Amino acid sequence: MRGQKLYGEAKKLIPGATQLFSKRAELFLPKLWPSYYSKAKGCRVWDLDGNAYLDFSLMGVGTAVLGYARKEVDDKVIEAIKGGNLTTLNAPEEVELAKKLIEIHPWAQMVRFAKTGGEAVAIAVRIARAKRGKDIVLFCGYHGWHDWYLSANLGGEDSLREHLLEGLNPAGVPKALKGTAFPFKYNDVEALKGLVSRYRKDIACIVMEPIRSVKPTREFIDTVHEIRETLKVPLIVDEISAGFRLTVGGAHKVLGIEPDIAVFGKAMSNGYPMAAVVGKAWVMDAAQGTFISSTYWTERSGLVASLETIRLFEAWKVHEHICKVGSEIKEIWKKASEKHKIDITITGIDPIPNFAFSAENPLLWKTVFTQLMLEKGFLASTLCFASYAHRKTHLSSYRRAVEETFYEMSKKDPKDILKTDICHKTFQRLT
Ligand SMILES: Cc1ncc(COP(=O)(O)O)c(C=O)c1O
Repeated sequence: MRGQKLYGEAKKLIPGATQLFSKRAELFLPKLWPSYYSKAKGCRVWDLDGNAYLDFSLMGVGTAVLGYARKEVDDKVIEAIKGGNLTTLNAPEEVELAKKLIEIHPWAQMVRFAKTGGEAVAIAVRIARAKRGKDIVLFCGYHGWHDWYLSANLGGEDSLREHLLEGLNPAGVPKALKGTAFPFKYNDVEALKGLVSRYRKDIACIVMEPIRSVKPTREFIDTVHEIRETLKVPLIVDEISAGFRLTVGGAHKVLGIEPDIAVFGKAMSNGYPMAAVVGKAWVMDAAQGTFISSTYWTERSGLVASLETIRLFEAWKVHEHICKVGSEIKEIWKKASEKHKIDITITGIDPIPNFAFSAENPLLWKTVFTQLMLEKGFLASTLCFASYAHRKTHLSSYRRAVEETFYEMSKKDPKDILKTDICHKTFQRLT
């Protein structure tokens, strides 16, 4: 398999083999995952040996909301790059996209752009710290790889374990940052209040995802709003995963959350690098008092991709389609698992459904599921990002494959089906 051969080379040349943890073969199917693609279209991906797979897994890690190689978006990008992608002068689309994002989020007045999710949240945190002249960040959820976030793990215990990824090692993060970022559990009003009363005078901002797998309670949202009002600390909502999936724009719009800053990435540009920090002028203006600047934040392809993607979201009501697809995927899992008496728990917002096996060794079951689905021509795991490219025929094929896979897993001990090592769960060294 050419993909695995190349992956073996990558491990020697690129520490950690991939640039994104979630793309490691070890998280799917060690030694057997195709790992690299030659081309992709719609919800189909071809590996280096020319095998085609239907993607019912990460769909470009949540970026391909309209599907891979979506013509309308790609045409705009090609036109932009033919006209010069980055010059001495600025791309006028910056102003157009800023206006569009403010039109979608009328509570906001200003926007900064970046290229990746993690750096965009780091920008938001820097702006809030600059505005407040204080250091402490209270947060829940996952927010990327930057020092401000990983510093929460400097205490020696795995404080971030409840926030998507466990075992994140903060080696290399300055120890001086210890005690500058504290996590609280989503919906845990008492934990949040406890942190606020402890650090009241030093809080720079509150950072949270609007939603990950469970809905925020009214009491939780009211508490967050109340703290924001009394302490005048900006509320930063990280929309990098949830944004543009429940509605056009931030999920906060449908959840009743009122941010001071909302951060977007992933879905806003259908696979081209683009991120945005959208906020109220009273806090955003502090970006002028600190140095936040980078050459490639000014390039054009991400801007035009984003403008076209948002136009299509509005025209096609993409969020309605992906919510429907995701809820159908949940139904497929539910029916097949009940039919074959496999105990699973299904969670996640409809456009990003996921499930967990309840068996004694859930990682073994997960690996076997991925292996059997791959053999049937699917990139599949226990998490799926729904896409506008997922259509009825794809869902029917997926349904048949899942039913057959669960049947096989119910008839034979998964240990006897497994052809490779069990997948990894946590962040660890690759050998
Ligand atoms: C909520 C959230 N914040 C931040 C990030 C980091 O974004 P990126 O991987 O583009 O740096 C992610 C990525 O999955 C995310 O889901």
